[in-house]
Amino acid sequence: MSTPLDIRSTELSQRIGAPAPADARVSVRGLRVRYAPDAPFVLDGVDLDVHAGEVVALLGSSGSGKSTLMKAMTGFAPIVSGTATVGDVDVAHVRGRRLRALRAQVGQVFQQFNLIGRLPVLTNVLTGSLHDAGPLNLLGTFRSADRARALELLDRVGIAHKANDEARSLSGGQQQRVAIARALMQNPRVILADEPVASLDPAMSRTVLELLQSIARDEGIPVLVSLHVVPLALAHSDRIVGLRAGRVEIEGCTADLDESELASVYTDPARRS
Ligand SMILES: Nc1ncnc2c1ncn2[C@@H]1O[C@H](COP(=O)(O)OP(=O)(O)OP(=O)(O)O)[C@@H](O)[C@H]1O
Ligand SMILES: [Mg+2]
Repeated sequence: MSTPLDIRSTELSQRIGAPAPADARVSVRGLRVRYAPDAPFVLDGVDLDVHAGEVVALLGSSGSGKSTLMKAMTGFAPIVSGTATVGDVDVAHVRGRRLRALRAQVGQVFQQFNLIGRLPVLTNVLTGSLHDAGPLNLLGTFRSADRARALELLDRVGIAHKANDEARSLSGGQQQRVAIARALMQNPRVILADEPVASLDPAMSRTVLELLQSIARDEGIPVLVSLHVVPLALAHSDRIVGLRAGRVEIEGCTADLDESELASVYTDPARRS
């Protein structure tokens, strides 16, 4: 059976149009984050790269710092030292307008989809083009070119036929695909997906992760995806980074890793002050 995921990359690039920017990459060096001056470091010297076209799976037990790492990359977690470079901008050293501009170039996907349920699917995707705009703009008119692109992206993720439905009427897997289309609407330099399949059944989890993989491969967009299910990480990433208590415990090509090696990520971390 043919699905939208079977479409060849050449056709995709014709349909999607804008290729990923040449500086689509993420580079984190020596990143230290803590939420209060006298609190322990939540991230304690993290190094991480996500290159154009690859999916990096982020593993780690609850509290190991996965979400904090993604928040730090968009300036929502307090960086004490180190760098977090998205494209050619170091998030640790930008504020105000430059930080907002950077955020507009980071496509984010969350466990709970974060769609506006009462609005049509197409409008939800279009909000990706208004990333830096106020809520009043949601009521305005969208350029026809944007609407055409949003429809293309919905076709890309396999749910163009739902364009006019209210977002809340879709299944979880369908809503996550809308969220991915919305992220693509931003022409992102990177996609950060924080537990995007945690609310989905196994089959839909695979579909969504396959979609993220094909987006990385075909559009050249780096994708960082946090996961709690090791076999899914092994099946749907190019590299794996395992965090334990805010430090990189393991890092390597997915093809070189197995479940037993990754188990070290989930052992009880030693207490540190
Ligand atoms: N806003 C905050 N203020 C204070 N502490 C926080 C804040 N956000 C996270 N933390 C703490 O930072 C640590 C790492 O949390 P984080 O959410 O990054 O972990 P995680 O790996 O994403 O966990 P999970 O798998 O449960 O989502 C935890 O100890 C958490 O309590
Ligand atoms: Mg988290």
